[in-house]
Amino acid sequence: MKLWGGVFLGQTDEAAGLFHSSLPFDKRLYKHDIHGSIAHAQMLGKQGIIPKPDAKAIVNALNIILAEIESGTLVIDETAEDIHSFVEAQLILRIGDAGRRLHTGRSRNDQVALDMRMYVKEEIACVCAGIIDLLESLLSTAKTHTTTIMPGFTHLQKAQPVTLAHHLLAYFHMFKRDYRRLVNCYEGADAMPLGSGALASTTYPLDREFVRKKLGFSRITENSLDAVSDRDFCVEFTSCLSIIMMHLSRFCEELILWSADAFDFVKISDAYATGSSIMPQKKNPDMAELIRGKTGRVYGSLMGLLTMMKGLPMAYNKDMQEDKEAVFDAADTVNSCLSVFCAMFQSLSFNTENMYKSALGGYTNATDAADWLVKKGVAFRDAHEIIGRLVLYAIEKNVPLDKLTLAELKKVSDIFDETVFHAISVEACVNARNVPGGPAESAVLKEIKNSQKFLASVR
Ligand code: ARG
Repeated sequence: MKLWGGVFLGQTDEAAGLFHSSLPFDKRLYKHDIHGSIAHAQMLGKQGIIPKPDAKAIVNALNIILAEIESGTLVIDETAEDIHSFVEAQLILRIGDAGRRLHTGRSRNDQVALDMRMYVKEEIACVCAGIIDLLESLLSTAKTHTTTIMPGFTHLQKAQPVTLAHHLLAYFHMFKRDYRRLVNCYEGADAMPLGSGALASTTYPLDREFVRKKLGFSRITENSLDAVSDRDFCVEFTSCLSIIMMHLSRFCEELILWSADAFDFVKISDAYATGSSIMPQKKNPDMAELIRGKTGRVYGSLMGLLTMMKGLPMAYNKDMQEDKEAVFDAADTVNSCLSVFCAMFQSLSFNTENMYKSALGGYTNATDAADWLVKKGVAFRDAHEIIGRLVLYAIEKNVPLDKLTLAELKKVSDIFDETVFHAISVEACVNARNVPGGPAESAVLKEIKNSQKFLASVR
């Protein structure tokens, strides 16, 4: 059944009908659509815009339609133009004239804006839950590795020693920001657009506040034109999702590297690896690679949305129907990536011995050797030069800095004495970095405490 036949003399071309139908993908909005319609009908009845008995009949029938879709007895058949038309057609099929009054003071333009906002709010809650799970796992693993020394990298070259806890907490903060961004995005989406009509609101005395309260929104939209043409909340949500994927992809990349022979810092459990069809020895980190790969897909949704909205004149344009697949796919992708990643992370086993050995190589204590000289009064630029020469000498001898003899050190600078050896052990290097935010155990324990407080506040 069409909602708009009156002015048309001709029929829609069959292929064009299929082409413009959004039902194949917007059917997942059935629950939001029906809840929105129930609130609208209740308000119409309360305001005396439609007869109260009709409003009652509409609400009853909508509840039955919802239950039937949920139980599978009513199948969304995909012949309607969109989910809004499908629900309304079902309603009219069941209760006739009363059902024909539901759309009073409403347009599919404000209806679809409402449905999408309800959907986005719900999905934000779901993604947030996934992030909290991951934050909890990160924190509990970090707690057990506050003294697990590993090399920190810049340019993927060994740089300075840190701890595994410090490294994992860096990801904690990245995902914590993601959480906060989502909360902010929720606030943006939390405005109720019904009452905006097709574009210029309505002549009926709608009680928008009543509908807002019924549907659990914190405010109503303030301009009818903006309300039906705004998809900022979709763009913002997809941006949040893109940043989450960017973070996950970086983490996955590190796990892929760390599980490679050359690093051997971590073992990914068999549950999250796959084999090769030809090479019997292979165990590949496919899940991590796939999450890294799916990042492109979520970015694609964001780019698609931004490009779709670019240059659109006020107010609603059919282009905007393209928002759905982008937002749905991005949300589904992120939800599944977060849950697989979190489980994979929990099953990792860290090769702490190799991490430690790796931190001993690569002259990760060179900065500390220079700092030791500075504390003896040498200017940092001179200290840098002295240690640089020392590293060059040590590389030629193929030994770490702390395995050079005091005599060898003295050849480069006579300021050196025995105490330098203690100052440049990797343990000393880490523990000397005890400023807030540093890798020293004392600093990391404080960071963990604050992070626990954050988690307690969002749980
Ligand atoms: N299926 C449409 C969408 O998703 C619903 C709004 C239709 N409005 C209209 N004026 N054609 O955007």
